[in-house]
Amino acid sequence: MTRDQVRSEFGSGNLPNPAECEALYETLGPVPEAVRNHSRIVARVAVRLARLLAEAGCILDHGLIEAAARLHDVAKGRPDHAMEGSRLLAEKGYPRVALVVSVHTDLPDPVPDELTEAQVVYLADKMVAGVRVTSLEQRRRAARDRFPPSGEIRDRLETRWRHTFIIRDRVEAWLGQALDRLFPTGSDSPADTQP
Ligand SMILES: [Fe+2]
Repeated sequence: MTRDQVRSEFGSGNLPNPAECEALYETLGPVPEAVRNHSRIVARVAVRLARLLAEAGCILDHGLIEAAARLHDVAKGRPDHAMEGSRLLAEKGYPRVALVVSVHTDLPDPVPDELTEAQVVYLADKMVAGVRVTSLEQRRRAARDRFPPSGEIRDRLETRWRHTFIIRDRVEAWLGQALDRLFPTGSDSPADTQP
């Protein structure tokens, strides 16, 4: 059985739909409104990326991407929110979503060669500051300004951005277009981020 066949047979199993994600904001949170809005925009960007990738021949599980993007910050504000969110989602019976959420702040290093749902969610999250689509270069500059020039925190930050640009390059290679052109800075309204 090929990977695509596995995905089409089992791909959408055990995934919360958008309405269930909204309900999880209450039961696992409550998640603040600003975080919900951020997550909804990240989901739009991530799903649009997934559709563009599919058109280019890179087939990923859109349901998993959408659910994980909607829920990636479900534990925002708590210590190690990625792992905490992951734990809560696994407990609710969503292990695949939990896995993606667990790595949305820090991917394994080195990043595996093949583009994955987790990488798409990771990238989409970096592309959205608040509810605003922002250029990755701009976000990296802003992040660098906020942290000391050396030390453990800085190293972690640099690893995150190194991963971000590896994934961006991978996505752009599939799409044959620059992400900044497809997702211009400031395209923050739902209409702007629709395919
Ligand atoms: Fe986020």
